[in-house]
Amino acid sequence: MKNVGKVRCNTMAENIRVLLSEEEIAQRIRELGELISKEYEGKNIHMICVLKGGVFFMTELSKHITVPVSIDFMSVSSYGDATVSSGRVRILKDLDETIEGKDVLVVEDIIDSGRTLSYLMEMLLTRRPNSLKLCTLLDKPSRREAEVTVDYTGFQIPDEFVVGYGLDYAQHYRNLPYIGVVQQ
Ligand code: IMP
Ligand code: MG
Repeated sequence: MKNVGKVRCNTMAENIRVLLSEEEIAQRIRELGELISKEYEGKNIHMICVLKGGVFFMTELSKHITVPVSIDFMSVSSYGDATVSSGRVRILKDLDETIEGKDVLVVEDIIDSGRTLSYLMEMLLTRRPNSLKLCTLLDKPSRREAEVTVDYTGFQIPDEFVVGYGLDYAQHYRNLPYIGVVQQ
């Protein structure tokens, strides 16, 4: 048993209310994979995973895509200072490969205010990909502050802080196979 802030958490994750089960997530990812495969027929998809949260979703999604796929990773951090509300993000790890001329699909765990992704998508566009789309497992549309076009969404969820399937609370719970809400 370990204390994380005010929340006690343990390996049984007994203080988590399940919002989306492992089965529901798996089924939806299969559907998304089929849809994306159809829409990209005859093309190669260059998937960009936004670390760390997006990695669980991207690996699972890529297994259900039937057109050729290549992957790359990027790590970004929103500026933590509350006085900076411009939505600018700091790149902690840039891509290994160029995206020029490629059909790029950015894969994210969750879109909340939209600030991170609206900045990132604009920045990636300047690198002249052939196309640029965004796929997110979760979307909290009621929280949106910055405009961002989401091309593929797994689930729209209410304004609750969720963990699991890559999403963390103070770096905990990423490995839960489902998505849930931490009970206070
Ligand atoms: P945005 O720039 O506000 O859209 O922030 C997106 C990032 O905030 C996500 O990539 C997550 O890392 C984090 N985030 C937003 N909502 C949640 C949540 O409910 N649980 C865990 N992380 C979240
Ligand atoms: Mg993220």
